[in-house]
Amino acid sequence: MKQSVKLVAGNWKMNGLGASLGEVERLKAELAGQAATCRVALCPPATLVARMAQLCDGGPIEVGGQDCRAEASGAYTGDIAAAMLKDAGAGLVILGHSERRQGYGETSALVLAKAEAALAAGLSPIVCVGETLEEREAGRAVEVVRGQVIQSLPLALAGHAFAVAYEPVWAIGTGLTPTLEQIEEVHRAVRAAMIERLGLGAADQPILYGGSVKPDNARDILAVAEVGGALVGGASLKAADFLEIIRAA
Ligand code: 13P
Repeated sequence: MKQSVKLVAGNWKMNGLGASLGEVERLKAELAGQAATCRVALCPPATLVARMAQLCDGGPIEVGGQDCRAEASGAYTGDIAAAMLKDAGAGLVILGHSERRQGYGETSALVLAKAEAALAAGLSPIVCVGETLEEREAGRAVEVVRGQVIQSLPLALAGHAFAVAYEPVWAIGTGLTPTLEQIEEVHRAVRAAMIERLGLGAADQPILYGGSVKPDNARDILAVAEVGGALVGGASLKAADFLEIIRAA
């Protein structure tokens, strides 16, 4: 595979107030002093998207949302439309995170509809997939992840920029990670499923690994074949930790 530029994205989840933008200013200042070796993105809670996008205007940090509704607008109290994220300055959106698949019963069919909405609004989706511990222990990790990729990626993504993030549910926020061999096995399966679904154009879109990525394991994980970047939760909240991960890419 052609070696493309990696994408290191931070998912702040439900963390961050206005004061947290100080971390972004620190990150921006550090990145300004060095040549870019990878793409960097931060996905804050919706309340911070506009402020962070303003702060990051002109680069190099890209800003994304953490979810969007499949519908373009309407009576959906509390929800956010892809066009609203775009309007606030986002360029990316995380979709189908396991915390939404599990906590809100989001199916791959819904994630697919959301990805279509994101695309229509001009956002580049980061579609998350990953097996539970039970599924891994039953030897079904590859089969489950493959199914999620095929069913969550709309055909309309062909020819567009997007990413898939492999996040084993049992590795999120636990400090546990798969072995490098297990990561490679799943990433190769994700790549094959992306190509099967969308054609050879999907060979260049990054597959991110997510789940307990930290400064001390990032270099090894990011060197695995078919790992095109990382989706980082807890370690993206502090500029110093996130910067170390960025420098490992
Ligand atoms: P942690 O890095 O905190 O394990 O979270 C990973 C994640 O869910 C990113 O989307």
